[in-house]
Amino acid sequence: MTIQTALLQGTRLLEDAQVAVPRLTAEVLLAHAMRRERAYLFAHSEQELREVEWLHYGRYLHERMRGKPTQYITGRVEFYGREFRVTPDVLIPRPETEHVVEVALEVARGAGSILDVGAGSGALAITLERENGVKTCATEISPAAARIALANAQRLQSPVSIVVCDFFSAIAPASIDLIVANPPYVPLAQREGLQREVRDWEPHVALFAGETGFEAYEQIVADAPRVLRPGGWIVMELGFGSLERVATLLAGWQDVRIVPDLAGIPRVIAAVVPVKHQPLKH
Ligand SMILES: C[S@@+](CC[C@H](N)C(=O)[O-])C[C@H]1O[C@@H](n2cnc3c(N)ncnc32)[C@H](O)[C@@H]1O
Repeated sequence: MTIQTALLQGTRLLEDAQVAVPRLTAEVLLAHAMRRERAYLFAHSEQELREVEWLHYGRYLHERMRGKPTQYITGRVEFYGREFRVTPDVLIPRPETEHVVEVALEVARGAGSILDVGAGSGALAITLERENGVKTCATEISPAAARIALANAQRLQSPVSIVVCDFFSAIAPASIDLIVANPPYVPLAQREGLQREVRDWEPHVALFAGETGFEAYEQIVADAPRVLRPGGWIVMELGFGSLERVATLLAGWQDVRIVPDLAGIPRVIAAVVPVKHQPLKH
């Protein structure tokens, strides 16, 4: 079977299984099966597949039709121009999260230390460290996710440190200039309404923090002042419809900024830690 025919058949199978962007998905899966770049397929459309390539391709198509996300099949995703390895132990980094990077880079000028809370694949921490060279660490509750983040850091030659702990529990007081977080923010009640690719494949600890979806924000905003230095920033990704309540949590913080994504949806919130109350002198 030629590359061209394999792509036609794969696209049809994915279409019938109602997989989104079937042609592109078939191309990505076939390129992965052949351990080639996608461009190779177009330049060699008459080439015959080897048996092993055909077997891999068939297995990948089958996995995708069962709902496994393409990124977990290929094990890779691009984020802010770099390739990250992903497994079902980590959330697949989303393009929207690149807005967190942009806002963080803007407010990070002069920062001496950055902390990413909830590293996942390490996409945020590693990108920030690679982009501005600031000393960066990340915390992560899932040891399996922390291992992936560390492997990504090593592959991308980024000296970030990854600590397995609950939010800030292992972080020294007043040691951080900038906190970034893309916390789990899907309300448990919305679980059944999620796409099957997300619900059945992505780690639940990365999606859900509790019934309301605000539990992680509440804890992060409450604990952040302990680890931030005076004048330190927090930059967080916002879930759909979460702006009002997260902004309320940040009442009393200074210089609050809200940044929309390309669709105009509020996507990032940033603020400066409140000045500590001085004890009254008698
Ligand atoms: C939405 S994912 C974000 C992952 C990554 N930062 C990104 O943007 O792609 C949230 C991450 O927070 C981690 N997490 C959840 N609860 C945590 C906690 N209490 N302490 C530390 N990390 C936590 C999850 O395991 C998950 O990796």
